[in-house]
Parts: sequence; structure tokens; C-alpha cells
Amino acid sequence: MSEKDEYMNIDPAVVRRIRELRRQVEHHAKMYHVYDAPEISDYEYDRMYYELVHLEEQYPALDDPASPTHRVGGKVLDKFDKVVHAVRMDSLTDVFSFEELSDFLSHVRETLPEAVFSVEPKIDGLSCSLRYEHGVLVQGATRGDGVVGEDVTQNVKTIFDIPLTLPEPLTLTVRGEVYMPRPVFERLNAKREAEGLSLFANPRNAAAGSLRQLDPNVTASRALSIFIFNFQEGNLYADGHAPLTHTETLDRLAELGFHVLEERICTAETEQILGHIRRLGELRDNLAYDIDGVVIKIDKLADRITLGEGTNTPRWAVAYKFPPEQKITRLTDIQVAVGRTGVLTPTAILEPVRLAGTTVSRATLHNLDFIRERDIHILDYVTVQKAGDIIPEVVCAHPEKRDGRETEFHMPTVCPSCGEPVFREEGEAAVRCTNAACPAQLSRGIEHFASKDAMDIDGLGPQIVEALISAGLIRDAADLYDLKSEQVAALDRMGEKSALNLTGAIEKSKSAGLERLLYALGIRNIGSVAAAALAARYRTLENCMAATMDELCDIPDFGEITASCVVNFFSHPQNVALCHRLIQAGCLTKSTAAPTGDRFAGKTFVLTGTLPSLTRDQAATLIKAQGGKVSGSVSSKTDYVVAGEAAGSKLTKAQSLGIPVISEDDLRQMLA
Ligand code: IVH
Repeated sequence: MSEKDEYMNIDPAVVRRIRELRRQVEHHAKMYHVYDAPEISDYEYDRMYYELVHLEEQYPALDDPASPTHRVGGKVLDKFDKVVHAVRMDSLTDVFSFEELSDFLSHVRETLPEAVFSVEPKIDGLSCSLRYEHGVLVQGATRGDGVVGEDVTQNVKTIFDIPLTLPEPLTLTVRGEVYMPRPVFERLNAKREAEGLSLFANPRNAAAGSLRQLDPNVTASRALSIFIFNFQEGNLYADGHAPLTHTETLDRLAELGFHVLEERICTAETEQILGHIRRLGELRDNLAYDIDGVVIKIDKLADRITLGEGTNTPRWAVAYKFPPEQKITRLTDIQVAVGRTGVLTPTAILEPVRLAGTTVSRATLHNLDFIRERDIHILDYVTVQKAGDIIPEVVCAHPEKRDGRETEFHMPTVCPSCGEPVFREEGEAAVRCTNAACPAQLSRGIEHFASKDAMDIDGLGPQIVEALISAGLIRDAADLYDLKSEQVAALDRMGEKSALNLTGAIEKSKSAGLERLLYALGIRNIGSVAAAALAARYRTLENCMAATMDELCDIPDFGEITASCVVNFFSHPQNVALCHRLIQAGCLTKSTAAPTGDRFAGKTFVLTGTLPSLTRDQAATLIKAQGGKVSGSVSSKTDYVVAGEAAGSKLTKAQSLGIPVISEDDLRQMLA
């Protein structure tokens, strides 16, 4: 049906109004989410948006996949579906110096003496593929392991840089890097800080956390962007013309409405390649997005085929990684904080400086030895960088810049929190406060208990923990579960709604499961991996509490030190009492993970019909955890068919082949 026929019986004024509303809604949504510069009130926007929604419902013939109403409103998912990429999403070989880069260029020139390279920024975000069928966006997927990714279609539709439709009915897949622009990142973190939520370490983590959201409305509120850097497969032109170069491809993609990489050059000359890398390095700070290197790739597509692919990376491209960004700033003070285990950690207070995407004003100094080895004085100029691009650290001091006002730092002799004397054990770098009732240790312990990988209590940040302790409302983690929202609401700067949210989050944390709970307890040397191993071995908190040294030493990767930390922790009466109170409070103290074993090794199961309590996915997980296989169809190789209500042809086939048919109950008994 042509557009004209579709609209034939509809009042042209309606058609015009819908077009106008779509234009306006797209514009104002972008001003709000992307630029944080709304031009109209939320009320006016909502009226406009819902007028459009109603008109589209009234005139379904005028529905258009390009309408901004398709960007939002997706439903909250339980999990992401898996997507098998039609073309593998390879990663790149990294090089860390101009020498290594020159080796790559020489190697390429042995086969292709005239090779021309595209030299472009390496955007620091996450890779994503976009599939269009007949000009309509039908799928967005994360890279995953390069072969299988996750279906994030609803979420990518919320990204304004991504066209929902193309101006031509083309079927193609493109690949790009989803990123969070720096101003959006700053705003997001400022808002999270005000709400007492944990901060994202950098724009890349924020982008990843925002794209992999089961609720697309959260992604929409995060204003992500994308740069397209590759054409994966399909047709770029309706007449089947295939581009000859990467440059031609990106120009064409820009013409089709994609936001393609900026700041790229095309050259055959080594000097120009190196010059562009230097230029991008200088430009890096002033870009609105983070880059972590420069990609050097062959421009001519036929040449790429000549060079081919390695195991997981192409031979026609490399990523030159920038060395960690460093800045010089003044260290204005050294403050000492007391950690969860009583260790006193000195922290450098810095004159704020922009570093790798965030403003840095503190950096860890680890311990006194670290300070002495680097000859760091208070008021020194110091070089700072981010370790692993996340944690700021002091690299060195600049004694040549001293003006005489600098002073040497001394570790306090008493705990800055409780005033009790501190100790340094023989051969240890750390200085400790050993007072079990030290309030700072209590605060850090509760913050750890509430942290993301532990009980994941949203909104229980350091300030609230401090306020709850000062108000005498909590003395240990178990006290959290006795808190009433009225008590929380009575704290300074706490509204009723925030108090309800917090007590709701605390209640929810009860079902975190044994793995998280064991980690949350803060047993020395028990990180989340060791906690999961403990939970898998003992299944309940009570069993863990009774664990013996011999048993613990049998757990893979548990040495004597780790084992003794566990035994030691549960030998303290106050820790045992804490565990009993957590059990009484209703915390889930059983393992949520399927027990692993090999009970079903070599056995194939088929699941059919509706099982009384398990979903088919849950049943499959239980079977696989015992080494069994789950197949979609019944054959002579099937060992068991697990049948529920309304089982159909699979059940009949199993009966005709004489394969044992079992119920969910039978399966549970086999697992018990
Ligand atoms: S090309 C098969 N170009 O870097 C070649 N990748 O470490 C595919 N990236 O996973 C990569 N900017 O997500 C290419 N201009 C760019 C890029 C880029 C960022 C990411 C990409 C890839 C990772 C490789």
C-alpha cells in the first residue's frame, strides 16, 4: 500500500498533526535527555506525547516505526535473550608503543606495500551491533563473547543517535561503540551522589550499566550515544553496489543517518599515522567522550580479505592504547581513614584535577612505606594517574618544585576514630586499630555489608550509615533488619519517601542468598569468589558455622590461611550471635545456586508440559548443574522425559519409544 493510499481516508489535518507531534516530541525528548536543556515543562511535554500516543492508537494505519513513541515504553524484562551474531564481533590486538605499531605496519607492507590506513579514535564504551531489515531497526545486541551477545533491542531504541528507520529500505547490520558523553556522566554521578547511591567509576562503566538494564526506561533516562565504526553485513545500497573502502562505507552510513566516527584520517604514511595519534592524544581531554586509544585499520576492504583474520582478532587492524593519563597537581593534605578491618589508610587530598574522564581530588597512598619510598611530603606537587583506569594513585612526588613549606607526614599513634592506640605488627606494612568497638570499623563493615556485591542495599551509602550509627539505631548489620521507616525518616535530610525506599531495599536484601551473605559478613580473606565456593560446599549458614579446618582445606583454592580465617570468624561468640540474629531476621541463609555434581553425567533429558513449581529453565539449570544434557526433542538417545501438565507430542513419542517418563517430584528426588 502506498503512503498515499494509506492516508486516503484519513483527514489530512490528522496526518499533519501526527507529523508535527512526532517532530516536536523527538526534539524535546532529545533536549531533555541528551542536552539537559528542556525548552518546555514536563507537563507540556507529557501532553504532547500522550496526544501522539492517542492519535497513533486511533489511526493504526499511520503507525510508523520511526515515531518517537517507539523509543520508549518497552516492557521490563526478566533477562536478556541471547543473540548469535551473524558476523563474529572480533576484538583488536593491542599495541602499547610506536615500535610495536611500526612492526604491525611493516608486517602489513610486506604483503601490501601500498596499504592505506584509516586512523581513528578508539571510543571507550561498549560494542554493540544494530540490525535493520527493510530499513527498520529490528535488533540491537551487545558483543558478549563476540559469537553470542545479548538482545538489547528495547534499550538501543532509546538512544537518539540510532535511527529507528533508514531513508531507504535496506537490510544490513552495523557495529558501533555505545558511550556515555562526559557531561551526561557528570550529571548522572552528581544526581546519584545527592541520592546517596554508589557512583560509576567512569563513563564506560556507566554506559555498560545503562545499556544492560532490564528496564528500558532506565536506559532512556541515561542519554547514551553511539559512534558507528563498522559495516558488518548486508546491503549498503539498494542496487547492490558494494563499497570498496572503509571510508566510503562510513560516508555512506553517515548519509543513511548514522552517527559515524569523527576525527579520523586516511593515509599510507607512517609519519602521518604517528602524527594523528599524537594529535588525538592532545585532543583527548577536550573531546565530549572518552577515548582510550587509536585504531589503525586497513582502508581498502579487499586488502582486509587478503590479510585475513587471526584466532579472535583481524590481521588488518590494531589498537594503539594510550598510556594511562597522568597529571601533576598539589597534594594539600594527607588524611587517615580507618578501614573495615581496622587498618589505617592514608589518603592524599589533591587540588582537583581532570583525569581519564573524572575529576580527581583524592588518591590512596596505601601505607607509610609507600609514602616514604616515594618521598611524598604534604604540599608537594605529585604526579597522579588512574590504576586500571579506575582508582587514582600517586605515581611520584616532585621534590624539585618544593618551596620550603612542605612537611613530612607521620602516622597517628592513636586511632583517628576511637582514640585507642594503634599497632604495627612485625613485618607488616599496615598500622591497625584493634579496638573491636571502633565506630569507624563498624561504619565500614556496614557499608561493606550493604555494598553491591554483598547484600546490595540500594541507598545505604556512607552518610546514611554514619547517621544511623550516630543516632544509636544500629550497632551491627543485624540491627538494619529491625529499622522502622519512621525511625529512618526522623534522621536529618531524610524524607518519608527515601526512608520507605531504604527500608524496602533492606527488606529486599533478605533474599540475597548465602553466597552474598557470606561475603557481606566481611570474613578476612573471603571475597565473593571464596564466599561462593563456601556456599557451594556447605549450602547453609549453619553448616558454614560448623566447618572444620580439614574440610575447608579440601575446598579448591582454599589454603590454610583462608580456612583459618573462616574458623576464626565463627569462633567469636559475637559473630555467632550476629549470624543467629540474621537467621532470625529472615535472611535467606541457604545457597541459591544449583548444587553442582555429576549425578546426571551422560544422561539426556527432555522437558515437556508445565511443571507444577519449576519453570522449564529452572529445571534445565538443575539438570545441567549435575552434568546432564537437556535436549529439545525426544529420540532413542533420550534417557528421561520430565513431563508436566498438558504435555503433548513429546510425551506420546517417549511412551512409544519406551523412554522413562518422570514428574517434577521424581526429578527432585533424583537430585536430593
Ligand atoms: S574496529 C573487527 N574501531 O574496541 C574490528 N573498534 O578492543 C572491530 N572500538 O570491541 C573493531 N572504537 O568495541 C574498532 N574505531 C573503532 C573502535 C573500536 C572502539 C572498540 C570495539 C572493540 C574494541 C577492541
